[in-house]
Amino acid sequence: MAILVTGGLGYIGSHTVVELLNNGFDVVIVDDLSNSEKFILKNIEEVAGKKPVFYPFDLKRRELLTQVFDAHQIDGCINFAASKAVGESQVKPIDYYENNLFTLINILQEFKERGISNFIFSSSCTVYGQAEKMPIDENTPLKMPESVYGKTKQMGEEILIDFAKAYNRKISLLRYFNPIGAHPSGKLGELPLGIPNNLIPYVTQTAAGIREKLSIWGDDYDTEDGTAVRDYIYVVDLAKAHVSALKNLLHSNEETVIDIFNLGTGKGSSVLEVVKAFETANDVKVPYQICARREGDITIAYANADKAEKELHWKSETSLEESLRTVWKWQQYLDSRAV
Ligand code: UFG
Repeated sequence: MAILVTGGLGYIGSHTVVELLNNGFDVVIVDDLSNSEKFILKNIEEVAGKKPVFYPFDLKRRELLTQVFDAHQIDGCINFAASKAVGESQVKPIDYYENNLFTLINILQEFKERGISNFIFSSSCTVYGQAEKMPIDENTPLKMPESVYGKTKQMGEEILIDFAKAYNRKISLLRYFNPIGAHPSGKLGELPLGIPNNLIPYVTQTAAGIREKLSIWGDDYDTEDGTAVRDYIYVVDLAKAHVSALKNLLHSNEETVIDIFNLGTGKGSSVLEVVKAFETANDVKVPYQICARREGDITIAYANADKAEKELHWKSETSLEESLRTVWKWQQYLDSRAV
């Protein structure tokens, strides 16, 4: 049974490929390396002790994708390939729609024509916007996100729901909260391009001396310490949720399945709490300054992930400090490669 993993050399993709291989699935990766590097493939093999098939193809090229489907018996897809920088999406909207939706449609055309089911989509808690009630469960009303990136996630969900209904297929929409951490081996993790936008890579690079100071975007939010609150979910736990979601689709006797799950820890942490936890976990200092709020940021978001626990028998198992230790190990691995 081969599972197509698009973006399988990326951050969440690479961790999920390892979990799929550990669970006995054959994996076919398509990744154009626009946000990863080839050594990740070698490291996946080292960590999992098995070799996935790899194609360095651009999913916009339908004829290349057709070759992949011709060459392998694909039984499902986990689709990670997407552009994900919120700020960049505002200035390059057409590129984001093309990269995130045109590629999705290309894969779904192959699924449609070949009668394949079982599609897992990387969505985001951004589809809820600033929810009125915490924690956020799957019945929380959706708000069309402000960012183009967020819109591609919400539109992707709609496309998949229509696909499942019209062709009687099985899909799972996974709404991630804030993925963090690296593989415990220290050989897989996030490779931020240029100056990181996200909190954890910026904290890590500041602790490593690559950045001078972390800017904390706002301490005047209506939260306990004034900094914004998010639900930071460990990437290996998140990867395992994909395997559970896939098995759930594969084992379902229903012809049409539309699963939607929030994937988070259920616990909110403020930016200052994250900085302190990083310092304690790794015994390092993270110099920071308080700055004005970042445009588009919400105050607070954390998940109610009970549905995933009940239906997928999955829950987050790793503490914030433990996952922040893995990030530091990964940073040291990257530093050793740079020498
Ligand atoms: N933050 C800082 N300084 C930084 C970076 C971030 O203070 O240098 C703060 C942000 O203001 C925010 C928190 O840290 O309060 C988390 O910020 P991230 O950029 O790490 O994550 P976001 O919650 O803003 O965004 C994440 C994903 C997006 C997704 C969004 C959904 O990165 O892809 O969640 O809410 F759209």
